[in-house]
Amino acid sequence: MVIVMSPDAADSALRTVVSTVEEAGGSAFVSRGVTRTIVGVVAGESVLAALEVEGLPGVAEVVRITSPYKLVSHENHLRTSTVHVRGVPIGPDSVTLIAGPCAVETPEQTLEAALMARRAGAALLRGGAYKPRTSPYAFQGLGVDGLKILADVRTETGLPVVTEIVDPADVDVVAEYADMLQVGTRNMQNFALLQAVGAVGKPVLLKRGLTATYEEWLMAAEYIAQRGNLDIVLCERGVRSFESAIRNMLDVSAVPMVHQLSHLPVLIDPSHAAGRRELVVPLARAAIGVGADGLLIDVHPHPEVAKCDGPQALHGADLDELETAVRTLPPALGKTLT
Ligand code: E4P
Ligand code: PEP
Repeated sequence: MVIVMSPDAADSALRTVVSTVEEAGGSAFVSRGVTRTIVGVVAGESVLAALEVEGLPGVAEVVRITSPYKLVSHENHLRTSTVHVRGVPIGPDSVTLIAGPCAVETPEQTLEAALMARRAGAALLRGGAYKPRTSPYAFQGLGVDGLKILADVRTETGLPVVTEIVDPADVDVVAEYADMLQVGTRNMQNFALLQAVGAVGKPVLLKRGLTATYEEWLMAAEYIAQRGNLDIVLCERGVRSFESAIRNMLDVSAVPMVHQLSHLPVLIDPSHAAGRRELVVPLARAAIGVGADGLLIDVHPHPEVAKCDGPQALHGADLDELETAVRTLPPALGKTLT
């Protein structure tokens, strides 16, 4: 961290800054320029996070040099990590397709959706048993019954299961059935949930919050990592914007940018970004093009009667186009389909 003093800062202000840093447990190195004096601070992350110097007299600016997220940052971990979900890799060498129904509704619908996912090239099945809904009157998911359906469909298809968790109290039961726990957009800053999923020892899929900055997203990942779990995969799913023709604005910059900042793999969910099925494959192509390590895509055998997010679910007729994209585009980037 560098503390920049204002040109007219008094010597007493500089002394206060230095003593504040030292009393907090850090070391302060003063460098006097022609018009400005700066103080370099060397300290551990907990000292830096607790240091309150912005408001001190004579302080013009405080600039962080190292990232505030230590465990998920690229600084100490140069190559992008590969996370394994029941043996299925998600990482820099491949594109992993995760697909399935937005919500688990019945055993038949879930099996059909899983078979659709597998046909399109998916290596993992994603389905929601606990649905975070805007309306308390909307379908909230089947809960434990939905988890059991997912486990049965895993046995039948061989596809490991990714499913969302919305309440820290459900961590043990969801972890009992699922291979990867998803923390959704709405819960990206539910810190109790992040700590609970971090402690359970299963890979975590962390979606970006509706209006979260990259730093906020990575700090959320840091909560999980701090509990000893570095098996974290990030997922960009579109952010709130002024445009009403699409559900969310897919931020494709998130992939190359977050790859620079963090060693965690980054996926793209074009379904929740677009909100409309006809945009899903074009956005999936863009995702592969910017180097996403995988895709999260909604499929449904009968989207017209889906209990959640039907308009964005691909149906059978769309699968060939998706399969072509996930099989033909990754090799152009030196990747293969997992
Ligand atoms: C996702 O899968 C969510 O549950 C879904 O997008 C919820 O959106 P809504 O409740 O606003 O329909
Ligand atoms: C989901 O993937 O099921 C979901 C709820 O998406 P998001 O959290 O991105 O809205």
